[in-house]
Amino acid sequence: MMNYSRITGLGYYVPENVITNNDLTKWMKTSDEWIQERTGIRERRYFEYGKDTNYSMATAASRQALDRAGITANEVDVIIYATITPDYFFPGSAFLMQRELKMDGKPVIDIREQCSGFVYALSIADQFIKTGMYKTALVVGSEIQSSLLNKSTEGRNTAIIFGDGAGAAVVQATSDPSHSILSTHLHADGRFAEELYMKDPGSSRELPFSKDLIDEGGFNVYMNGNAVFKHAIVKFTEVIQEALNANGYQSSDVNLLVPHQANIRISDYVRQQMGLAEDQVINNIQRFGNTTAASIPIAMAEAWENGKLKEGDLICLAAFGSGFTWGSALIRW
Ligand code: COA
Repeated sequence: MMNYSRITGLGYYVPENVITNNDLTKWMKTSDEWIQERTGIRERRYFEYGKDTNYSMATAASRQALDRAGITANEVDVIIYATITPDYFFPGSAFLMQRELKMDGKPVIDIREQCSGFVYALSIADQFIKTGMYKTALVVGSEIQSSLLNKSTEGRNTAIIFGDGAGAAVVQATSDPSHSILSTHLHADGRFAEELYMKDPGSSRELPFSKDLIDEGGFNVYMNGNAVFKHAIVKFTEVIQEALNANGYQSSDVNLLVPHQANIRISDYVRQQMGLAEDQVINNIQRFGNTTAASIPIAMAEAWENGKLKEGDLICLAAFGSGFTWGSALIRW
């Protein structure tokens, strides 16, 4: 008997602290109008120091996903945790969440594929389940980015985009291919590693923590916005087409697209290329900004809450991000 995998529960957590575009003008020269026009973002959440941590947000999202799947943490065989903003340099935040969920002895995998992190993590879960090695995986994306942004005018092209939050999915084995993950497609291109990156603290430095390095800005996120934009619109479209081709579908067969929330203009472009209606694409970047690895599971969890993930629907996930990385997943819900 073949094993397939399906998502049986989704959850998310975002910090209470809402930062509007107007709030950002306290730190940098920008405007609500500029930000909304270029990115679609109206507000984002920032973690509350002393209350939220990367792993506490992931734990909250996971508990909700487990609850909705109707299982306990004891029944999970593996945690796959995507983040580029871990609580510690090492070990990864998956260990801290595993401890919180009292899952001693269960394997954890930390992955860091940036904005494509959740799609990569989901693909890993799918492979583990298809081989029969595990029956239940907890797949998480969680990010605290607000503490790593340069919020002065100098860093405004990145600072306006990113926000904090976490999303989680319970992925379980099923023998029924008609409600399962149909395929995942992953890509990377390291030639563009420095187009969107955070350089420090790098281990290959003579002095990884010198004041000079801090002054040089290596501890802040750097992004070549134009280069990212240009590649994103091409790769999003390509990797969605790859998923459709692999399964013998075309764009018009897709009921719902859940794109990584990079920028509303990127999502709109992809939507138009695919010929989808506005209500066939999930967009919540207006309220949460770009939450990197957390963005797809947050968007999916909200879509589920709003009754937008309907049994039998063809759901397409797609992501693009730093690395560069890109990927897609096609799901028969
Ligand atoms: N507020 C006001 N002005 C800003 C600004 C801000 N937050 N950020 C940049 N500007 C200014 C620039 O200084 C520049 O001014 P100048 O022409 O006087 O030099 C002007 O706006 C245009 O800057 P540019 O960086 O070329 O803007 P852009 O049109 O490329 O928009 C992004 C910038 C970041 C919105 C856009 O490149 C983008 O969305 N890229 C994709 C990013 C993305 O999706 N990243 C996530 C990938 S996972």
